[in-house]
Amino acid sequence: MILVCGGAGYIGSHTVYELIDRGEEVIIVDNFQTGHRGALHPKAKLYDGDIRDKDFLDKVFGENNIDAVIHFAANSLVGDSMESPLKYYDNNLYGTLVLLKAMNRHGVKKIVFSSTAAVYGEPENIPIVETDKTEPTNPYGETKLAMEKMFKWADTAHDIKYISLRYFNVAGAHESGEIGEDHNPETHLIPLILQVPLGKRDFISIFGENYDTTDGTCIRDYIHITDLADAHILAVEKLRKDKISSIYNLGNGEGFSVKEMIEASRSVTGHPIPARISERRPGDPAKLIASSERAKKELGWKPKFTSVEDIIKSAWKWHQNKPKGFEA
Ligand code: UFG
Repeated sequence: MILVCGGAGYIGSHTVYELIDRGEEVIIVDNFQTGHRGALHPKAKLYDGDIRDKDFLDKVFGENNIDAVIHFAANSLVGDSMESPLKYYDNNLYGTLVLLKAMNRHGVKKIVFSSTAAVYGEPENIPIVETDKTEPTNPYGETKLAMEKMFKWADTAHDIKYISLRYFNVAGAHESGEIGEDHNPETHLIPLILQVPLGKRDFISIFGENYDTTDGTCIRDYIHITDLADAHILAVEKLRKDKISSIYNLGNGEGFSVKEMIEASRSVTGHPIPARISERRPGDPAKLIASSERAKKELGWKPKFTSVEDIIKSAWKWHQNKPKGFEA
């Protein structure tokens, strides 16, 4: 039985769908701060509550035979973390501390958790490998890095094995078009671009055109949500089999500029998608591209969505299906 913390969120819900497809029994914990009831899988058992609540976690672990935890429950916006750093320390770091203590009390020894490219800060190499220096430039990345370090010491002392997955730019939606990305407010590039053909905004803003990149706009490595969900399942299997803690980057290893993403979205949607140049967004590194060789080699991970057009197509299917998101 697998406990998914944050199983009603964007990445959590897609992982729950994949787990249930593979016959796993799933328990979801979510406080619905950013998750959606519409994203819940009907076959998963829900506990509505907060991971910072010790008694609540004791009930969840006490009532179920949980073998591994997949932990997504966190705040994850760079800009928001700059404005409200303590919220990130509270929910991300303290929340994970309470969760780890509960796992330790109940003898649960395996956890897979969401980390981020933001732990690296300005990259020293492209593509980025897991051993590169980690110097986060914002509290979001800083809390995720602190979580990784807490896991390391909990492993040493309590034998809790962890796999930390450092995601690059996650995008796209489930093939059914029934679940997908729905943030409020939305800050991510692909859903914002697609709001133009949906008639919700008149143009997309390009945050800075004077970066040191081929066309002057920021370059990112986009990875499909289903490929990401698969990596979590492979990580649980690896913990079950090898019982070794590890850290893996997850990206496609290819970079696309903001302008290229807009052009690709024009070709997918057949809409002209007007764009305007605006100021740089504070804290944006010029270029982030992952090396995922370690995940491919050690987890046997093989992303299926390697074309950005296909990633955008799957996001477009979801947004057309549910233009108002889950609350519609
Ligand atoms: N961008 C625009 N216009 C927009 C929105 C975004 O030009 O309206 C640009 C951004 O400046 C950036 C790129 O598009 O260069 C991608 O931006 P996103 O907000 O979609 O994603 P980020 O790269 O900022 O964030 C991602 C994850 C974070 C993670 C971060 C690590 O979503 O969780 O990478 O740097 F922390």
